[in-house]
Amino acid sequence: MNPVFADVDTGIDDAMALIYLLASADADLVGIASTGGNISVDQVCANNLGLLELCRATDIPVSKGADRPLSGGWPARGNVHGPKGLGYADLPPTERQLTSYDAVAAWVGAAHRHRGELIGLATGPLTNLALALRAEPALPTLLRRLVIMGGEFGSDTDPAAEWNIRVDPEAASEVFAAWAGQQRLPIVCGLDLTRHVVMTPDILARLLSAAGESALVRVIEDAMQFYFEVHRDRGYGYLAYLHDPLAAAVALDPQLASTRAAAVDVTLSDPATRGTTVADWSGSREPNVRIGIGVDPAAFFDRFIERVAALARRIGNPRSA
Ligand code: RIB
Ligand code: CA
Repeated sequence: MNPVFADVDTGIDDAMALIYLLASADADLVGIASTGGNISVDQVCANNLGLLELCRATDIPVSKGADRPLSGGWPARGNVHGPKGLGYADLPPTERQLTSYDAVAAWVGAAHRHRGELIGLATGPLTNLALALRAEPALPTLLRRLVIMGGEFGSDTDPAAEWNIRVDPEAASEVFAAWAGQQRLPIVCGLDLTRHVVMTPDILARLLSAAGESALVRVIEDAMQFYFEVHRDRGYGYLAYLHDPLAAAVALDPQLASTRAAAVDVTLSDPATRGTTVADWSGSREPNVRIGIGVDPAAFFDRFIERVAALARRIGNPRSA
């Protein structure tokens, strides 16, 4: 069992990533940090607590983190994840409570408790992680691995500002800079990688068929229907990119993605390109990340379906229990 700490802005794909971690026998989810992003940080906290209830998870600590970026304000959120961040899905009520300590203390505490063993996963804006680095500059040496969903590295000509980085570019810049020269570089899964992992109605049907009927399956179905509709309305087709679940799967098994070292900077000053990630692949600078450059989507989905379906069957329908 690998101790994993997840920092999430639980929207739909973050939720699917958390479900994947909870379904994975090789993951011991030791803590969850909530950050604002897809939805308000308070809603993210509620979503995280409700998901643990839905999945009948053990008492995994959930901490509240950043409700604003390091500098500036929130960019316009849109309605990508729905009014409560999980599309059409509703989570069960829960008595679970947040920790008394915040996300920064949660990051630092978990890193010290699991010194050298902790796998960090960040699938939202990097505000909490940047603040944790300020509190504990040794964090890069305390973590065994860090995987980040963020950035876009595919098009040198017109790099898009990916959401997680765009929300808090200063935080991302501080995080990437902190790992320069470290022996174990963060693996960064950008949009150009995660857009290869495409959930379709057929793949969802495969999952639902393997999982059988349950409260968990209803939540996945209702969340994914909303996500399919959002992608369709944005011109991508009736499908959904599983950005964060891919990052979670890579966090547990880095072999799932091929990677290449690079020195990444985040554009901060130019308003037209603020929040874009610029990779220097030349090797002339100390690399600070390993960028995910290839993945086998079929291998990912086989593993995702196998694990999530088994969890769904295992926990059944709590309401009928
Ligand atoms: O750009 C995709 C990322 O932004 C994903 O993590 C999604 O959940 C949103 O946070
Ligand atoms: Ca996210």
